[in-house]
Amino acid sequence: MNKKPFFYDITLRDANQALAKPWNKEEKEIVFKQLLKLGVQGIEVGFPIASEMDFESCKGLAQIAPENVVISALARAKTADIQKAWDAVQYAPKPRIHTFLAMSPLSMEHVLQMEPVAVRKQAIEAVSFAKSLVGKRGDVEFSPEHFGDCVENIDFVIESLKQIAAAGATTINLPNTVERYRPMIFVDMVRKVVDALPKDITVSIHCHNDLGMATATTVEGYFVGATQMECALNGLGERSGNTNIYEVAVALHNCGIETDINLSEIYETALLTSKWANVPIYPKAPLIGIEAVAHRSGIHQDGASKTKNMKKGAYRPIDYSLIGRGENDVLTFTSQSGKTAVYEILNHNGYPVELDEAAELQPALKEISEREGELSESRILEVFREKCCNLNGRMIFHTIDVIPGENRFVFKFQKDGAACEESISAEGPIEAALLLSRKVGLPVELKSYKQSVVSEADKLWAGRALSEIALSANGKTIMGRGVSSDTLVANMRAVFGGINKLYAA
Ligand code: KIV
Ligand code: ZN
Repeated sequence: MNKKPFFYDITLRDANQALAKPWNKEEKEIVFKQLLKLGVQGIEVGFPIASEMDFESCKGLAQIAPENVVISALARAKTADIQKAWDAVQYAPKPRIHTFLAMSPLSMEHVLQMEPVAVRKQAIEAVSFAKSLVGKRGDVEFSPEHFGDCVENIDFVIESLKQIAAAGATTINLPNTVERYRPMIFVDMVRKVVDALPKDITVSIHCHNDLGMATATTVEGYFVGATQMECALNGLGERSGNTNIYEVAVALHNCGIETDINLSEIYETALLTSKWANVPIYPKAPLIGIEAVAHRSGIHQDGASKTKNMKKGAYRPIDYSLIGRGENDVLTFTSQSGKTAVYEILNHNGYPVELDEAAELQPALKEISEREGELSESRILEVFREKCCNLNGRMIFHTIDVIPGENRFVFKFQKDGAACEESISAEGPIEAALLLSRKVGLPVELKSYKQSVVSEADKLWAGRALSEIALSANGKTIMGRGVSSDTLVANMRAVFGGINKLYAA
């Protein structure tokens, strides 16, 4: 059985270094507090040698860090970097120095221009120095940069990591600094390191998303024994970014692995991060993109609607309330959409139609959509009013004005396609609506009346007033239902909907 995942966030370092305008101390503090709300267990607060601004930011965050969160700073495998990192994070209750050196053949030869044995020696010396600074108060993390490119020299790297762990690194982080190959090639290398290192060493995984597979690689890395997940908010980071923390936490949750991440904070965190980083969220981004909950094709809309109150939906990965996102399924209407979208959109807007009535309207909307593209809700309502009034002789409720002190109610509505206005005197609005029904030649009688609030289970209407009014005419009784955030409007929608049902029948 694997250990519980440890989420180590690198937004303030790896993502920050890739921002067009890296954050200052005050800005970092805002993100830092949000990370604490999200429940990460480790935070890499920056790269103190990079600038005095970053040093001060790291120091300031270390000073306000809570007892239970690891606070780390990055340092190249150089004495000056390591000292600076320690100078910054030493104030934290749980300080860490994270030092790194490239170990891929390509980087050692062309970037560092050093022999592998010299690289190994420098890494060991760097870790020993970092360990001498942190003592028993903190710990040391080491990363062989470009680990993903170490397929050919994996034996050299593993031997080096064993010696680096013996020198004092208790976390060995494996970076896929540039994502080039299959996830399973990288995951297999992670497995080899896990098997080779002593069991008390934490193996960590740090993936960049150059080919869009960072989440998959990170999640699979956990299942072969890497328990520290290095991730960033909104998947921010160099080039195509780092592993997206929300995707990993939710994927693990879906696999039955619980984490310390407060999943319900995800959506808000994503929106705030996008604003703070000035990086918009891609509309199709998993979980947090605006389109992640949109269904446009008729088949998907039908499945989504039929499973809308279930934890596991036909066309969605989670119940989005899990991540604090209000809506589960957003149905819009295009030429690819079906009657379900019409039904949901009309009902959502307070027009209690039946599915077969929605089906009547769908061909007309489809034809319009073939010309105009996606139809807005107001356009659909416009067509609904036009077509339904003309076709079925319906009464469409618009507004009711209560005239204070006069027991008078002014209705604006449509009948047979024409705009109408009637003023009715009555004791109350329901009585006024019944009198109106007589006046326009569609008389109905009130049988029963109930008002309640739509339950949480109904994601679309939850919390709104629900009126259920039984009406009869010509020996037939039906139930009119109306929903609105305004009780009076809910009542009127119920009466008008009931009248239409009785007379359409
Ligand atoms: O991607 C990378 O290799 C890094 C290291 C510094 C860990 O960010
Ligand atoms: Zn990185």
